[in-house]
Amino acid sequence: MTAVTEYLQSQKDLIEAKLATILKPYPEPAARVFQAMDYSLLAGGKRLRPILFLTVLRAFHKKAEDYLPFACGLEMIHTYSLIHDDLPAMDDDDLRRGHLTNHKVFGEDFAILAGDGLLTHSFFVMLSLRKTLPVADLALLLAAVEKVSLAAGLQGMLTGQAVDVAAEGKDLSLAELQYIHKYKTGALFGASVIAAAILADAKPEEISLLEEYVENFGVAFQIIDDILDVVGDEAKLGKPVGSDEKNHKTTYPSILGLEESRKAAISATARATDALSKLGGDFKLLSDITNHILNRDF
Ligand code: IPE
Ligand code: IPE
Ligand code: MG
Ligand code: MG
Ligand code: MG
Repeated sequence: MTAVTEYLQSQKDLIEAKLATILKPYPEPAARVFQAMDYSLLAGGKRLRPILFLTVLRAFHKKAEDYLPFACGLEMIHTYSLIHDDLPAMDDDDLRRGHLTNHKVFGEDFAILAGDGLLTHSFFVMLSLRKTLPVADLALLLAAVEKVSLAAGLQGMLTGQAVDVAAEGKDLSLAELQYIHKYKTGALFGASVIAAAILADAKPEEISLLEEYVENFGVAFQIIDDILDVVGDEAKLGKPVGSDEKNHKTTYPSILGLEESRKAAISATARATDALSKLGGDFKLLSDITNHILNRDF
């Protein structure tokens, strides 16, 4: 294992140990919806949004473990989005994180409710930090939660997913596709990075460099997701390949072809790490992680 893969594994373990405690014990008579939530939440996944969040906090010399519930809240929002994204009315996929999708196991009714539950409870979990952070930091906590709320919802993932499903079967321009990517995928990554910077009371110029970083990270990430939907290995990805073609989605490869898409991902990655290099040596680990993630085949 390299230092980066070891770090990623250690962070995944830290996050998953906490995630496993959030919904238990399951109360009767509603236990089934708790089971459905935990089924997807504890199914694995790369845990990238909480890992970026914790890594940015460390770069600002904060004790990242103190903010673990916030990191878990980000993963709960992401997991909700995957459960709903896979529903028959959306992408209609059967495999996620190497397991049957939520609705295949629990039925569409419980998959919808499990998503609702994860989204709603994520805010409770993030705000639980009010009991442990110094009183002087509570205004930062509110600002960070406000950022996440917009990014998950009306100025972010929700609007991106809405435009994405409405565009099925239509030929989009590159600019229209970029809009969808920026919102459906970029926004929650953006909130994960910027919420950490807000909690660390970062300076405005640091926040704007991190915005430049994560905007480009999100672009590269979704281009690679689209490429892997064409050429990826289902066993490694834990989700189906060919989902986009099945759903008549415009993607980077469908507009630019695979080779140009790869080039676009490489240049967005370079723009992301350039922004980090302006933040100095404390962000070297984040830069190494970024290169690792954006060279992925998983
Ligand atoms: C998949 O996200 C959905 C997109 C935004 C492309 P990830 O690739 O981060 O999925 P997991 O969390 O590892 O399962
Ligand atoms: C979905 O994009 C992004 C979300 C907000 C869930 P995709 O539909 O391409 O994600 P995958 O490929 O199913 O993970
Ligand atoms: Mg989708
Ligand atoms: Mg999908
Ligand atoms: Mg995809």
